[in-house]
Amino acid sequence: MGHLKILRLSMLVLIYWKICKATNLTTVDPPTNLQILDPGYLGELHIEWQAPASLRSISNCVLRYQLQYYSTDEGRWKTVRTTHLKHSARFDLGKEAKVKVQSLLKGQCTNGSELQSVWAERTLQPSQEGIPESRIKNLACVFYNWEYMECTWQRPPYLNYNLFYWHSKLDHAMECADYIQSNGVNIGCNFSSADLEDYTDFNICVNGSSAAGPLIPVYFRFELQNLVKPAVIKKINVTKVGNERLHLEWKPPVGKIKSHCLEYEIQCREDENEWTSNFKKGTTFTSSRFDPTQHRHCFRVRSKLNMYCADNELWSDWTANLCFTEEYELSEASMFIALGTSLIILFAIALSLWIRRRGLKIKGGEDGILL
Ligand SMILES: *[C@@H]1O[C@H](CO)[C@@H](O)[C@H](O)[C@H]1NC(C)=O
Ligand SMILES: *[C@@H]1O[C@H](CO)[C@@H](O)[C@H](O)[C@H]1NC(C)=O
Ligand SMILES: *[C@@H]1O[C@H](CO)[C@@H](O)[C@H](O)[C@H]1NC(C)=O
Ligand SMILES: *[C@@H]1O[C@H](CO)[C@@H](O)[C@H](O)[C@H]1NC(C)=O
Repeated sequence: MGHLKILRLSMLVLIYWKICKATNLTTVDPPTNLQILDPGYLGELHIEWQAPASLRSISNCVLRYQLQYYSTDEGRWKTVRTTHLKHSARFDLGKEAKVKVQSLLKGQCTNGSELQSVWAERTLQPSQEGIPESRIKNLACVFYNWEYMECTWQRPPYLNYNLFYWHSKLDHAMECADYIQSNGVNIGCNFSSADLEDYTDFNICVNGSSAAGPLIPVYFRFELQNLVKPAVIKKINVTKVGNERLHLEWKPPVGKIKSHCLEYEIQCREDENEWTSNFKKGTTFTSSRFDPTQHRHCFRVRSKLNMYCADNELWSDWTANLCFTEEYELSEASMFIALGTSLIILFAIALSLWIRRRGLKIKGGEDGILL
């Protein structure tokens, strides 16, 4: 009996000691060997780290990592929580890449609360060597009708620039296959649709070298659907609705843009007044009732991708102005003129007849012989 009691007691003590030992973790080590690796994707970097040695065989707790990196595109720190030992993120390689990661431990071994380690930090310096004023300026890209894309930059003072690009479907960066040139100097690239990938990061680097030394590389990132400029709308059918309105109907620009991705702006103008805008999702528009004092009505239409398909403000060019003089006004006026002229003619005939009579009378009166 006594022995059993002692045994039970000592087992209890042992269990209690085990619980105490299990819950005595109050600090956690940071991850080790944090690295920033550049696979040559012009901005996409791989961040890798290893679990702290003290926690590699922990079984009664969950070890996770909190990663923070400074996104130069968004101008803020971004946070990722993961159980993995790597993460890929997009950086502007022309600027410093700052990364930090910490361990997060939670479970039985911490008695349910979450422990955070100090941060492990790493910074990747930009490759800035080069002639200071050699950086290209004002890169502008337009993805014409979702078919081909032209990117151009301001003509720089140095000569030998090259453009490289990368997107997630490529396993290495590619050089531009069709440079746009001005007097033999590369000032842009014409991408064919086979080069392009939308709804994903499209990274561009413009670098080069000159006799005076290397040119500072410049990096850009786009999502190509945001650069689409639709083609001009080709044909608009116009029909009259009653005598006071016009109904316009057109077809979306021919090409790869899905019609549900487009929205339209229709502008109207009466005589020489200001244009007024209307926005439509569909391809028809009925004008409001005409102002009867105005005589000339003009319309023009343009399109852009809507918010469901892209995040852009790039409108197509306008159609040519379509102008109409108001027919119903004109027809009433001409009817009035016709009526007026016939009245005048009738009056003239009556007058001439009357004058003739008078003339006869007068003549008769004078001579008394004629007739
Ligand atoms: C564990 O947490 C509970 C409540 O959250 C607390 O009552 C208990 O004392 C803690 N145990 C230890 C060993 O800290
Ligand atoms: C780019 O390519 C397209 C399609 O091949 C062509 O229509 C366009 O004129 C080219 N642009 C320049 C600037 O060469
Ligand atoms: C320009 O960038 C590409 C792609 O990263 C690289 O292969 C090439 O060597 C660079 N050229 C120069 C002159 O630095
Ligand atoms: C214009 O009308 C013609 C004849 O009704 C039709 O064949 C054509 O498709 C229409 N075009 C548009 C842009 O609606």
